[in-house]
Amino acid sequence: MSRRCHVEVDSRRYELPVVVGTEGERAIDIRGLRRQTGMITLDDGYANTGSCTSDITYIDGEQGILRYRGIPIEELAENASFVETAWLVIFGRLPSVTDRNRFSNLLTENSMLPDNMRKHFEAFPPHAHPMAILSAMINALSTYEPQRQIESDDDVELAAARLMSRVRTIAAASYKSSVDEPLIYPRYDFKYCENFLHMMFSLPYKEYEPSPEVARAINLFMLLHADHEQNCSTSTVRMVASGQANMFASCAAGVCALWGPLHGGANVAVIQMLEAIRASGTGVADHVRRVKNKEAGLRLMGFGHRVYRNTDPRAKLLKKSADQLLDHLHIDDPLLEIAQELEQTALEDPYFIERKLYPNVDFYSGIILRAVGIPLDMFTVMFAIGRMPGWIANWKEIHDDPHSRIYRPRQVYTGNPLTEFVPRDRR
Ligand code: ACO
Repeated sequence: MSRRCHVEVDSRRYELPVVVGTEGERAIDIRGLRRQTGMITLDDGYANTGSCTSDITYIDGEQGILRYRGIPIEELAENASFVETAWLVIFGRLPSVTDRNRFSNLLTENSMLPDNMRKHFEAFPPHAHPMAILSAMINALSTYEPQRQIESDDDVELAAARLMSRVRTIAAASYKSSVDEPLIYPRYDFKYCENFLHMMFSLPYKEYEPSPEVARAINLFMLLHADHEQNCSTSTVRMVASGQANMFASCAAGVCALWGPLHGGANVAVIQMLEAIRASGTGVADHVRRVKNKEAGLRLMGFGHRVYRNTDPRAKLLKKSADQLLDHLHIDDPLLEIAQELEQTALEDPYFIERKLYPNVDFYSGIILRAVGIPLDMFTVMFAIGRMPGWIANWKEIHDDPHSRIYRPRQVYTGNPLTEFVPRDRR
């Protein structure tokens, strides 16, 4: 197999190396291109650009394969907890029992927010969006962190535990302040996901004890969101990290990048779409017709993916989990029926088949979150809590790389040519 590639520019031939990944993915290494040819590449939306090499996550979008550190997502979903998976994603190997216990203890010991942070929550206006609160509070959290150098994996582990644990506390606290209920302290005896549900739903006079099935569904939701290579938010985290910003600042930027409806906000948009179909009374077929006609830029939310040209393996696992959870809770959610009909209709329709548009992670995740009682405007926050290990792992990869350079893409300027400055009295 050729490890070099040739490009011809203005009748001159240049040789460029080809980089081959562990799974045989090939990339033309253009690091010397501008030096050799005076040209840059242009790739709006980065669909053809590898921004880095990375050891964390492997995706084969054609086959619908997703692996964290080489381990298939299906095996992790079956056998591992979110906390174990988080450690695997961050440190590159499955934790030993000692690693796991130490990390769990760190998560428990660091779950409380500094008490002064309550004042920040009080300062947000009513109905402030929880993603805005989350991002602001992660940054606020960094002001309570001693500005110590992160030098060893132990330092990373402590910082990661603080961030992962407190993000969960902030998320629950932002919900509590939005519904004007007192903030609930974490419990020492609860595991990661149980503790989050407790802080969300307990009241000072009434403890919420999640059933194992509910805890398992949230655990799976988080695990399936733990990393997804160079998506919009993770690339943002790497971009900020490349300037040597700290872990907290880099992950706060990731939260903002995740917010929009084409990325993490899609889980909200899916439920809004299903509700709109239900309220319209015109049925699934009519909605699909409007999507295909691109009426007002309408898209089938929860469908399509830049990388997957096959069913997102996370969607399959979440669909199964949604079915089991609704069964366990004896919930008959009409939105699940609409979702199933929509999926079936789209999968048989040439418009979606030709464009290789399949359900993505957001298509069924909202059904699970609704069943658990998570309010709609917290859905993307849930995604952010789950994605934290991936952001931390990507931050670490940049931090640990002695050859890391600041991310600084170029552009092709298409504005005015040299233009004269016109003094104010002549304009
Ligand atoms: N519904 C209808 N048509 C779609 C959809 C969709 N969900 N997604 C893509 N298309 C169509 C486009 O209109 C385009 O059609 P055309 O060739 O006739 O112009 C074609 O498929 C290619 O679409 P692109 O915009 O080039 O695809 P891109 O890779 O840029 O977008 C994205 C990927 C943003 C995920 C897109 O599929 C989308 O908007 N999906 C809905 C939002 C969503 O679910 N986002 C969550 C993604 S997963 C995540 O971030 C966690």
